[in-house]
Amino acid sequence: MERAIGVIDSGVGGLTVAHELMRQLPKEKLLYLGDTARCPYGHRTPKEIKMFTWEMVKFLLDKDIKMLVIACNTATAFTLEELQRELDIPVIGVIQPGARAAIKFTQSNHVGVIGTQGTIYSEAYTKALKTIKAEIRISPLACPSFVPMVEQGILSGPDAKAEVRKTLFPLQNKEYMDTLILGCTHYPLLKDTIQSVMGENVTIISSSEETASETSTILEVHGLLNHEDTHPSHQFYTTGELKVFNQIARTVFKEPSYSKLTIQKASLNTNQDAS
Ligand code: DGL
Repeated sequence: MERAIGVIDSGVGGLTVAHELMRQLPKEKLLYLGDTARCPYGHRTPKEIKMFTWEMVKFLLDKDIKMLVIACNTATAFTLEELQRELDIPVIGVIQPGARAAIKFTQSNHVGVIGTQGTIYSEAYTKALKTIKAEIRISPLACPSFVPMVEQGILSGPDAKAEVRKTLFPLQNKEYMDTLILGCTHYPLLKDTIQSVMGENVTIISSSEETASETSTILEVHGLLNHEDTHPSHQFYTTGELKVFNQIARTVFKEPSYSKLTIQKASLNTNQDAS
């Protein structure tokens, strides 16, 4: 049987990356796991984030994935290097691709980055951006209320807009900031709202496209691309409520892609209780 690409996130955020993987790699089968029951990860300690991420990874390794995409910035910030070192399959995260995409777009060399507390305080984006371009100016901002809002399916409307406007206030009218990185895979689900608050002069970057194209390159380099003419069905797992996960998946994928997914409940081998 064709081996799948494993995709993990703390919840529904990674669906935005999975969607782009399906678009760019239509012959590849995906196995997705969202740890919705323990979401958000953004405020958790590095130790918890590592432990939860390893539990997700083991779940997918048991299903014989051929590559791992960490479709979560928070998990990428704290576990990418360790997972790349420890696993004998290729592993990528979403931070380097997001940073690369932003550098391609910015003309003013001033980039904003929004993400969870964990991602912002880890300074993973600052390091990634500065490695590519040392003179880049960065305005980072943690947005802790966005992930819980998305997980509840609040993606647009007056309440979402008011919250986004209030949270992003420190970044509005920042001099010469022409690019904003959505440094959390949940945030593309709020993209229209974020764009309307930031205005049309700011280009919004999500790392999905760049991550999917890097996945394609890596599979090719490792001789792991599927060349069979298959129409894969994809298995998606959540540790939380099926109903909300399903609704958000339907919003992200739409038809006909949505009908290629089966969504099931997962139970992980956990060392510790959720909260
Ligand atoms: N999608 C995750 C990220 O990209 C959300 C983190 C969270 O659970 O707080 O960081």
